[in-house]
Amino acid sequence: MCELIEAIKLSKIYNLGETYVHALREVNLSIARGEFVAIIGHSGSGKSTLLHLIGCIEQPTTGSVVIGGKDTGRMSQRALSKLRLHKIGFVFQHFYLLPALTAYENIELPMREAGLRRRERKDRVHGLLSAVGLIDRGRHYPYQLSGGEQQRVAIARALANDPPIILADEPTGELDTRTGTGIVDLLVAINQKYNKTIVVVSHDPEIAQRAERTIEIRDGVIVDVLY
Ligand SMILES: Nc1ncnc2c1ncn2[C@@H]1O[C@H](COP(=O)(O)OP(=O)(O)OP(=O)(O)O)[C@@H](O)[C@H]1O
Ligand SMILES: [Mg+2]
Repeated sequence: MCELIEAIKLSKIYNLGETYVHALREVNLSIARGEFVAIIGHSGSGKSTLLHLIGCIEQPTTGSVVIGGKDTGRMSQRALSKLRLHKIGFVFQHFYLLPALTAYENIELPMREAGLRRRERKDRVHGLLSAVGLIDRGRHYPYQLSGGEQQRVAIARALANDPPIILADEPTGELDTRTGTGIVDLLVAINQKYNKTIVVVSHDPEIAQRAERTIEIRDGVIVDVLY
């Protein structure tokens, strides 16, 4: 299998005036195309930081992130925006749907950014609503949806431009156990059916159990890799 995501000696230091926080310390990590990886660790260990660096929404202090063989540290801002739009889908704990847009419009938004035509957007949004089990919820606004449904919309939005990589930060953190299991089932199905590479940060033991590989981070260092 070829490596899709590579983190090479990745460090992140946050500078807070007088103090520095070493959120990540020379982390090396390779993730192959089609893998389902869970990242676990205590609060403050650096999980979200790692996910943000891999997803190119934050830059490392030192080290590099290589996606599909390309060193993202050498890319222009324009090329990075394109990479984020087409190669990476993000799912967050708090969903982050736009409240003034319907489920349909939230899923459609990244397609508009990518310049897809209306007809194609429509076909794809319907396909995605169906894939996440919400075909009859397209006209609902986020406040008219349950937490589990909102997260399904967020997952469909992450898939909007058919990216090879889905990154999820505590996707079941806001949900009860049963609803959370439904979301984990959906992520597993997306991994298997569409061969998406999925990296999930979670405290949820169920996610770690169902991932192919679990990585533990402690104080910004990878301490355990369980296969
Ligand atoms: N923007 C920031 N500025 C300063 N410090 C930060 C920033 N983001 C994170 N940190 C610090 O970096 C460390 C790692 O944070 P991170 O959010 O990656 O942890 P986490 O493992 O995701 O924790 P949690 O499980 O609580 O979400 C923490 O000590 C945190 O306080
Ligand atoms: Mg976090």
